[in-house]
Amino acid sequence: MTAMQSSDKRSSSPLEGLSEILKPDLDAVNAIILDKLTSDVPLIHQIASYLIASGGKRIRPLLTLAVTTALDGDLSRAQNLAAVVEFIHSATLLHDDVVDESAERRGQASANDVFGNQVSVLVGDFLFSRSFQLMVADGSLETLRILSDASAVIAEGEVLQLQMQRNLDTSWDQYIRMIGAKTAALFAAACEVGAVVSDSAPDLQKAMYEYGYNLGVAFQIADDLLDYNADQAALGKQIGDDFKEGKISAPVLMAYQAGTEDEKAFWLRTIGKDQQEEGDLEKAQNMIKEHDIIREGLDKARFYAGQAEKTLENLPVSPVKPLLEQLLHYVIERSA
Ligand code: IPE
Ligand code: IPE
Ligand code: MG
Ligand code: MG
Repeated sequence: MTAMQSSDKRSSSPLEGLSEILKPDLDAVNAIILDKLTSDVPLIHQIASYLIASGGKRIRPLLTLAVTTALDGDLSRAQNLAAVVEFIHSATLLHDDVVDESAERRGQASANDVFGNQVSVLVGDFLFSRSFQLMVADGSLETLRILSDASAVIAEGEVLQLQMQRNLDTSWDQYIRMIGAKTAALFAAACEVGAVVSDSAPDLQKAMYEYGYNLGVAFQIADDLLDYNADQAALGKQIGDDFKEGKISAPVLMAYQAGTEDEKAFWLRTIGKDQQEEGDLEKAQNMIKEHDIIREGLDKARFYAGQAEKTLENLPVSPVKPLLEQLLHYVIERSA
């Protein structure tokens, strides 16, 4: 790389760009998170900080800060609510890794792997409760409604996913509804509260909700493709977990529908009946490759990114606006 290229701002990701522009606010959010992780029960602090201090992209709190900045809103409230959003996200990760029996998260052994399932679930409950305390501190019933609704919808999405596990008759629409709930609802809420603390007109609040929702759907489709296709070291979580658990995700639905009779029988055995043998994950990955599912799946994700892009027309011009546009491409092309 030449000196000119390395100093070229365009080469950094929009997440880095947002983290740079919003640095004082993101630092404040991280400080609130660390402060609110404290507990008289040392194990709670140990487990919560094990997960939260280990990194994560902070994409959801950055959305709250970015929307608030773009709309010239109250950044002090946004910092508090961005911390809420990351707390809710962290709580769902603790619970999700127990449900999915995942052994790796953010490039290290998952909390359930290190500390066990029972305490991971309870610390997840603690983080949810902390997030409610922080919402009350904001003092607005509107933000409380948005974020508590999102928490309930996430739980519904996770239960819906369990219900559709191993069911290859699941339709694409049912799949989208499920990821809309488990993932996109929090992206949507993160953006919507940014508009609320900016006292934006209802239309703009709705537009920001829709930006977040469609971004979240695109993000989860891409995430589901990564579970069959990623470089595990870059991803920081084990690939193949969805296959092992019989999860109904975009690549499985698409490969099943595109498959020959033999291939359909493979998916019905491995995902439908949980009869998996050595080498089946590799076979699944090969079928996904042969049918060009990754490219097609990314096209489907791009459709939602396109829907999100339209909503940005309503946003005034500001330094964060192009980064919110670039984020739509980033969530699809990302490797982590
Ligand atoms: C992981 O979300 C959970 C999903 C919705 C797929 P992220 O990929 O945003 O996780 P971190 O916070 O960066 O680790
Ligand atoms: C993440 O979902 C948890 C929520 C969205 C609530 P997944 O199970 O699909 O994501 P990873 O692969 O564990 O991060
Ligand atoms: Mg999971
Ligand atoms: Mg899961």
